[in-house]
This record gives sequence, C-alpha cells and structure tokens, in this order.
Amino acid sequence: MTILVTGGAGFIGSNFVRHVLETKPDSRVINLDRLTYAGNLDNLRDISHQWEGERYFFIRGDIADHSLVMSVFEDGEVPKPRVVVNFAAESHVDRSIVDSTPFIDTNVKGAQVLLDVARKYGVELFIHISTDEVYGSLPLGDGRFREGDPLLPNSPYSASKAASDLLCRAYYRTHGFPVIVTRCCNNYGPFQFPEKLIPLMILNALKGEPLPIYGRGKNVREWIHVVDHCRAIGFLLDKGEPGEVYNIGTGEEEANIDMVRSILRHVSHLSGKPLKDLESLVTFVKDRPGHDLRYALDTAKLRDLGWHPALSLEEGLKETVSWYLRHKDWWDRVRSGAYKEFYEDWYGKRLGGDP
Ligand code: NAD
Ligand code: TYD
Repeated sequence: MTILVTGGAGFIGSNFVRHVLETKPDSRVINLDRLTYAGNLDNLRDISHQWEGERYFFIRGDIADHSLVMSVFEDGEVPKPRVVVNFAAESHVDRSIVDSTPFIDTNVKGAQVLLDVARKYGVELFIHISTDEVYGSLPLGDGRFREGDPLLPNSPYSASKAASDLLCRAYYRTHGFPVIVTRCCNNYGPFQFPEKLIPLMILNALKGEPLPIYGRGKNVREWIHVVDHCRAIGFLLDKGEPGEVYNIGTGEEEANIDMVRSILRHVSHLSGKPLKDLESLVTFVKDRPGHDLRYALDTAKLRDLGWHPALSLEEGLKETVSWYLRHKDWWDRVRSGAYKEFYEDWYGKRLGGDP
C-alpha cells in the first residue's frame, strides 16, 4: 500500500508517517509538504535516514498547486499512491485571526485540488483530517458533539476546515468518491509547534517566561495524545466506511487553567524547578476574539468499531513534558525565525496589557 500523506512534516503528520511505517510493514509513504513555518524535516530525520528512497519519499510542494499534485500521481520516480491522508493545513486559530488568507488557500482550495486530482487518478480511499472545532462551541456541562450535528464554526480556521469537510461530503455524494472525514479533539505530544497551548506552556515555564492564559482560563478542551490520534487514523484505514464522518477523542476534558497547573506540576517534578516559582509565571491576558468555550466529542461510533485510546492524559502529559525536556535542540531551532516574529506580534501587547 502506497499512501500519500500531505502535511507529513508537521506535528500530527510526522507522527503519522512514523506510525504507519512502524505498524504497517507493507506500506510506503510519500510525504507532500510545502514546509511552511510549521513544517519541519527535523521531525522525520530518523525516518528519512532509515527509509528514504525505499519506503519513504519526500516531495516539497503545495497541495493547492494542481500541476504539482498531478505530477505526484504521474512521476515515474516514486510509487503511485492508492490512498491519500490529508493533514496539510494552516492549523493555528490565532494566526487565522491575524490573516485568514493562507487558511482559505490551503485548507479550502488545497483540499479541493487534492480531491479533484485524487479522484481523477482513481484513489481508493481519501482520509481527510478535520477537527472538532467545525461544530462550534458547547456550553460548560455534559453535552457532546455527534457526527451528524450541524457545522457552526466560529474562527476563520474552523470555518476553512468546515468548508473542506463539506467539499469531502459533496465529492462522496456527487461522484461516489471514497472519502472519510475524521474530526479529532485537541492533540498534544512530541514535535508539536510551540505556538499551541501545551508546548508553549512547557517551554515558557522552562525558560522562566510569562504563561499567557486567555481570559480567566475557564475554556475547556478535550485532549488526546497524538499517537492515539494516529492509531485511530490507522484503524480507519482498515475499518472505516467511505462517506462516513468519525469523531476521535478520549473523553478527557480539562479547563485551560487546570491543564496549565498539571503541566507545571510535571515540569517541576522533572526539572527540579520549584512549583511556586513556576506558578508565579501564570499571566491572565486579553481573551482570544470569538474564543470557543468548550469542545467535547461523542466517540461512540468509533468505539463501537473497536477503537479506544491507549494513553491517559496524566501519562501522556508526563511523557510529553519529558520529551520536551530531552529535545532542547529541536525546540531551540524551532523557536528562532518565524516563531519569534509571531510571538512578539501576538503576545507583545497582551503581556503588557489588561486581561
Ligand atoms: P501543523 O501546523 O503542525 O502542520 C501542518 C503541516 O502542513 C506543516 O508541515 C505544513 O508545512 C504543511 N502545509 C501547510 N500548508 C501546506 C500546503 N499548502 N501544501 C502542503 N503542505 C502544507 O498542523 P497539525 O497540528 O499537525 O495538524 C494537522 C492536521 O490535523 C490539520 O489538518 C489540522 O486541522 C488537523 N487537526 C489538528 C489538531 C491539533 O490539535 N493540532 C486537532 C484536530 C485536527
Ligand atoms: P490552542 O492550542 O491554540 O488550540 P485550539 O485553539 O485549537 O483549541 O489553544 C488551546 C486552548 O488554550 C484554547 O482555549 C486557547 C487557550 N490558549 C491560551 O489560553 N493561551 C495561549 O497562549 C494559547 C496558545 C492558547
């Protein structure tokens, strides 16, 4: 089986490439990635050393570039993909508030180009990686989103993801093209770009920098370890039904302030830094505009097929904090360059101003 993985140099994509090559011995992976600020070939150094040219092939390119994507299916040098897993996206809500243009270019136009070309070349299964954020926001309490619920996105990011989910639906209904859409809760784990909550808090705590929490930290997210997400996608490659949508989650919800306190507990325990010093870094800042209050997923559909997460949040978080402590080289390189610019622009005023 040859799988075209798009966005394979990003956080979840790189974990998925590793997962597939390790767990499916007959598989080959083509990684098509544009290498935006979030794409990092360091994430796959071990994989390219071991498998490049045999079971792993990297192509730098934009999923919205029609002729480039066609060439992936035609070029004689690499095997022809029969399956596509589309991770490529602009993925950060805060960046979509600053400028939504690349979100439409990649998440909507890019998805359309990929669907079109994959259909033309008779791809047998297309898995589109989406997010719980397309459903909108829940009140605090017990309700959970189900796959048939309406899409009510609130950020330019989630609106662009909802648009691509609907394109997938249309390609299935109109053309009978075999598409599965997955909607996962918030991921954490190795190789996550430190603009997202968990790595941002770990790294700022290690550096003794302020920990910017939006509003009062009461917003709730459901969390999954990235390897559990990858296992679920691997499972759906075999067991998923074309035309269906599957929620992927753990049921483990946490208010942001409680999540940050858990992170600090692990950082203190693993680094020896006094917990009181770390807690004094917590800084409540101006809220994110349109900030969704709560996400939570009903995952009965996937669990009924036989999938369930392997890692608890407590174990996964401890392992993740430990990973960042052991990979300073990786995040030192990542934190220079484009990351610095965005950080100063987005947090500069927030950390100087009122919540
Ligand atoms: P990421 O930002 O870490 O990685 C995105 C990758 O896509 C990068 O390697 C980037 O270079 C590549 N890319 C961007 N634009 C491209 C283009 N036009 N052509 C080719 N490659 C391009 O993102 P992530 O957190 O790994 O998320 C991956 C997918 O999972 C996204 O579709 C996202 O919406 C979805 N998702 C993420 C989460 C989460 O918590 N991170 C949760 C649910 C769903
Ligand atoms: P994030 O990791 O950006 O994921 P998403 O917005 O896609 O859920 O944020 C997770 C939660 O953490 C969200 O409620 C926003 C909040 N947050 C902060 O409070 N401070 C921060 O600096 C960041 C990046 C996020």
